Amino acid sequence: MTTKIWYTYDDIHRVIKSLAEKIQASGVKYDAMIAIGGGGFIPARILRCFLDIPIYAVTTAYYDSEYEGKTTEEVKKVQWLDPVPDVLSGKNVLVVDEVDDSRVTLEFVLKELAKEDFGTIGVAVLHEKIKNKVGQLPEGMPYFSGITVEDWWINYPWDAEELDEHNRLAAIGPH
Ligand code: G4P
Ligand code: MG
Repeated sequence: MTTKIWYTYDDIHRVIKSLAEKIQASGVKYDAMIAIGGGGFIPARILRCFLDIPIYAVTTAYYDSEYEGKTTEEVKKVQWLDPVPDVLSGKNVLVVDEVDDSRVTLEFVLKELAKEDFGTIGVAVLHEKIKNKVGQLPEGMPYFSGITVEDWWINYPWDAEELDEHNRLAAIGPH
């Protein structure tokens, strides 16, 4: 069975503080965040506490798609910045998501955003899973992660239907 790990809201907030410090130390001043929903929404909002820049959002989801009789999963847009607001023209934007897992979603989103007229596009994730990646980040793109983690299944507090139980499991540690 895959090992699972539970993070509390406190864990998340602390990781985001250290993520913000890395972003600030990079010397690039980001003008706005683009959160990738759903997982990037709460991280972006907490990150705003440290970076104090506005949050825009795009949302993707995996859908089944039929190709030559085979069903595969494909990332699609649920909601997009369509068109990208004029105020973001030439601006540095930081794309925010909760986890860097296979990079399939990240690659999709970053390729789409690269078609637009931004300045620097950076990417910030809370948890960078150490594993072989399927998707790729554009060469040279600024990349920040709060912490690197094992290739375990992460349970996030915002998915918890019973928060006390979630926190109890978090206190036990990975299992
Ligand atoms: P990546 O490009 O950011 O690496 O994402 P990838 O396509 O590999 O991720 C597929 C989906 O699986 C994403 O959800 C991602 O949040 C979720 N995911 C990957 N690893 C974990 C994990 O350890 N724990 C949890 N809880 N989720 C994980 P999504 O399709 O974007 O859905 P949403 O929940 O963000 O709306
Ligand atoms: Mg997501």
